[in-house]
Amino acid sequence: MIKKYLNKIIQGDCLQLLKTIPDNSIDMTFADPPFNLKKKYNGYRDSLEFQEYLNWCEQWVSEMVRITKPTGSIFVHNIPKWLTYYSMHLNKIADFKHWICWNAPTAPMGKTLQPAHYGILFYAKEKSKLEFYEIRCPHKRERKSSYLMKDYGGKKPLLHPFGPLVSDVWSDIHRIKHNKFRDEHPCQLPVHLLERIILMATDVGDVVLDPFIGTGTTAIAAKRLGRNFIGFELDNNYVEIAKNKLLKEKANSKVDKSWVSIYLGEIVTLRDGDWEHLKEYFYIPADITQIDFTPIVLKKNLKIITPVKHCINNNVKKITNQDLFDLASV
Ligand SMILES: C[S@@+](CC[C@H](N)C(=O)[O-])C[C@H]1O[C@@H](n2cnc3c(N)ncnc32)[C@H](O)[C@@H]1O
Repeated sequence: MIKKYLNKIIQGDCLQLLKTIPDNSIDMTFADPPFNLKKKYNGYRDSLEFQEYLNWCEQWVSEMVRITKPTGSIFVHNIPKWLTYYSMHLNKIADFKHWICWNAPTAPMGKTLQPAHYGILFYAKEKSKLEFYEIRCPHKRERKSSYLMKDYGGKKPLLHPFGPLVSDVWSDIHRIKHNKFRDEHPCQLPVHLLERIILMATDVGDVVLDPFIGTGTTAIAAKRLGRNFIGFELDNNYVEIAKNKLLKEKANSKVDKSWVSIYLGEIVTLRDGDWEHLKEYFYIPADITQIDFTPIVLKKNLKIITPVKHCINNNVKKITNQDLFDLASV
């Protein structure tokens, strides 16, 4: 009975809404909750007592695990402090896979070390049944000279032309820096962060659920990649912004038949299994050892989709969920 929620953004309290979702029915759950850091949300007070916040988190984390399919994945994004408590709970009800370190400067938190990463906990609902797809990101290069940042020494001929398999430290995706691309929301995530997670954890047509959808990042990433989405959000204003943005999106983040994540006209994440098909779309140096100063580039005649850039000047129109459902192209 998730059909009524499919490809919709629902306004309401996620705890109540999650309870209406059947067990084992969602392929991937992702949560980016309020961090209890007194952020200025429209309709939510981001300052609960310590234990009150943790008790609340434990409830929606448990619901996320309950509704995720045995083949599915659970992701939770937060500052390291809260993730240490989440893991104590999650370790009892799901299977730990990774603590992804998303290398992004955060606000100073005290008088010790300067925090420079957010964490994304990655759990499998069931270890032996997890469906996972290895992904690759481009080689890191020096900005002006384009030289490879890493010295591969004698191993250069063995390099993958596109780039390495993605590790659990992500330093190539940055927070949204330009205000003109931000919504009026204090902590909007970049779409290509979610696209990376969705590419590694789901397949086309799968269902991705985010109980704290904010202004729609997870839903936009899912829609661009041909997945179904379900988003919950307490604040009506954010719901309207998300629905308006989704109207402009299409399931078109692909090169021919392969789904990829694109940012600033470049592929930033692809699936390892798609490389055999994708490699013909790149100019790759015939002598692979030249790759240290020759970035591989997409062939010029390839029409690469430029993702829609949303900006806060967009008029916020009242959109019904029926509009979204009618337009969902998956
Ligand atoms: C950290 S933000 C999520 C931002 C989102 N990832 C994005 O990129 O736009 C957390 C969101 O949770 C919403 N929220 C807070 N309590 C909620 C609840 N009980 N149910 C649903 N949404 C809630 C807030 O309004 C806020 O938009």
